[in-house]
This record gives sequence, structure tokens and C-alpha cells, in this order.
Amino acid sequence: MPDGFDVAFARAQFPALNDPGTRLWTYLDNAGGTFVCQAAVQHMSRFLETGKVQPYGAHPLSVRAGQSLDHAYRVLASLLNAGEDEVVLGPNTTVNLNTLAAAMRPLFRAGDAIVTTDQDHEANIGAWRRLAEALDLTVRVWHVDPETGALPPGGLDAVLDEAVRLVAVPHTSNVTGAVNDVAAIAAKARRAGAWVVVDGVAHAPHAAVDVKGLDVDAYAFSPYKTCGPHAGVLYVRDALMERLAGQNHAFLPDTARLQLAPGGPAPEAAAGLLGVADYLNALYARHFPEAVGPLHERAAAVFGLTAAHEAAVIRPLLDALADHPRVRLLGPGPEAAAERAPTVAFTVDGMASADVVEALLPHRIALRSGHFYAWRLMQALGLDPADGVVRASAVHYTSEAEVRGLVEALETVLPR
Ligand SMILES: Cc1ncc(COP(=O)(O)O)c(C=O)c1O
Repeated sequence: MPDGFDVAFARAQFPALNDPGTRLWTYLDNAGGTFVCQAAVQHMSRFLETGKVQPYGAHPLSVRAGQSLDHAYRVLASLLNAGEDEVVLGPNTTVNLNTLAAAMRPLFRAGDAIVTTDQDHEANIGAWRRLAEALDLTVRVWHVDPETGALPPGGLDAVLDEAVRLVAVPHTSNVTGAVNDVAAIAAKARRAGAWVVVDGVAHAPHAAVDVKGLDVDAYAFSPYKTCGPHAGVLYVRDALMERLAGQNHAFLPDTARLQLAPGGPAPEAAAGLLGVADYLNALYARHFPEAVGPLHERAAAVFGLTAAHEAAVIRPLLDALADHPRVRLLGPGPEAAAERAPTVAFTVDGMASADVVEALLPHRIALRSGHFYAWRLMQALGLDPADGVVRASAVHYTSEAEVRGLVEALETVLPR
């Protein structure tokens, strides 16, 4: 068994990291989307080559396609520690949250309040704001600290009372990498009588998600940021599901799968998810002697290792940015490397964020700049959303050498 996370083993599982052209680049836009692991590619291509027919018919090919889809739902449920009927596979998180918001209409009355944050990606704000406008609800904002972009726990207390019917929060910021204590937030919101909807898109690539442990009502993430296919996964607690207005044809059964994913998921994406599970299992087998427990327990063991690796990898970058006189590092600093996601955002005095990204291209380093749809966060931080921040985002397959290369390039690109 390797001592610590075997990043070379992980990197060997990604065609893009071993492609002669792609591997010339240091790819640090993983929060935008990760590379796809070999196992997911294989599952998807096998399905497309040999079995892409409409599922749930009588002929054997269709039976097999249905089994693949059912298998994917079982795997997702096991991964999240959810019930099989509590998981929905849709096209992406933005659509999934919009559909959920539409389905939650019967739960609100005019005059009710909802809480959104200004730390979220707009996917977990816009859906609720549109609902509020349509139903005449009051929107209360849990504001971030304008210096750090963190959500202070006291800020929730200030907006939470029995008028609040919904609290929509991010698990992790897709800009600052700050991780929120969702279990504590959910407990507080529940005491006030509110439903809790969590955007876990920026969290799921870096940690195991146990929806029962968190005790939330809905949780969304996007597998294209977790080494898998382009899709969106939504957990909805059965007690919430029972009270939703279905969003599919009225004559269809009242299940989350049918009613919250009208039109059905891409079956090749479902196949790809089986590949992501295979990859997780391969990482588990590489690092742990016995294959025990359900997938979410194995995922927790694997993510324990990858989180330590990610923290060690980004530490030099956090140190360099925190120390640079022209840089404003947003979010948790170097001392908190182990408590944050490896998504690092900064601005540079006297230099547009887009120009920093541009200046790194000759070094074959791929970062990205902008507001990352966390448009309200940019405003709260006093930044112009049009230029936004520079974001360097690592994931478990990012190597120490790659981040060291970025730190060295920044020395050239950002003279002090
Ligand atoms: C935190 C967060 N939430 C939601 C989304 C939207 O996800 P999707 O592209 O699946 O709609 C993103 C995408 O970048 C994100 O980073």
C-alpha cells in the first residue's frame, strides 16, 4: 500500500493527462470541469457502441439499457448515502435546481420568506429569486464578509425566523474554496421550519457527500466536475419529494426520477457514472487492503487521502499569493489549506484578471478568469464582475510539480 495518496496512479487513469498534446499543459481549471477518467470513457463508449437504445422495452437490448440506468441510480444512491428513489439524474445542476424550484411552488404562500446567499453560483440563487417573484415571497440575503467572502454563521441568525420556508446555500464556494458547515446550517434552518437546499457542485469533487449525515432536504452536484460525464445529480429527501408538484406528464408515476427529470437523463451519462464509481473503487483498492462497506464509506476513505494531497499541493500557491504585495488572495489563507477546497481565487493590483490568465499561456498553464457565475459574490467583494478574479483550481490528480510550475511562472508574470 502506498504511503499517502498515489497521485501517479490516479494520473494514469486519465486519457487526457497522458495524451501527447494535452499533457503539455498544466491544467488548473478543474473547478470549471475535470478531465474524464478512463473508466467513465470506457463505460460511455461501450454503451454508445453496443447498447444505445431506448430503455425499459421488452427486447433484450432495451432491457439491458434499462438495467444500466437502474444500476447508475443504485450507484448514485450508494455514493450519497441516499435512498434509490431520492436521486435524480438530469442534464446539469442549473436545470435541476430550476426544476426543483418549480416543483416546490405548492410549499409557499405569499408573504413567506426565503434565504439565499451572495456566495453562491447563480444557479442556487436565480431559481429561488424567480420563484420568489412569481409567488410574492420575500428574499432575505445571508451576506458574505466583504473582505474574505466567507459566510459568517451569525449572518444566518440575523435573517432566519419562522417566516423563512427555504434556505439555499453553497457547500463550498466555487470562487474562494471556503467550505460551509452545512450540517450546522441545516440544523439551524430546520429548527426554524425551513427546507434546506444545498449546491454541492464545488464540494463534491473534493469530499465524500453523505446527505443523511448532513440532514439536508436537497443536494445538487455535477459529475462533469467529478471526473465523469456532463450531467447533474440531485438528491431530494423523500419527505420533500412527497410534497412536490411533479414537473413531468401528469399521467406518469409520482417518482422523483420521473417527475424531477422531465424527458429523462442521457443514458450514456448514466453509463459514465458507473465508470466514475469504478474509478473510485480502483482508488480505494489501491490504498486500502479490504473492500468493505457501501460506496459512500469507500468514497469517504478515498477523499480523506485526496483532501490531504490537495491541501499539500496548493499550500505553496497560497503561501506565494498571501506573500505577494500586489495580490489580494480571496478566501481562506495558507494556514487553512486543509479546511478549504483547492480552488484559489485572487486579483492583482494594476493588472486585469484576464491579462494574468493570458500572460500564463506561454508557460502552458491553463487558468481562467471571470465571475464564474458568482456574480453577486464579485459585487459583495467590491470587484467588477466583468473582470472578476483569476482562479486556479486543483483536484486530486493535480501534482505538486504542476503547482510549483504555476508559482514559478507567477514570479515572472507578476513582478513585485
Ligand atoms: C458551485 C456551482 N454551482 C452550480 C454550477 C452550475 O452547474 P451546471 O453547469 O451543472 O449547471 C456550477 C458550475 O460551474 C458551480 O460551480
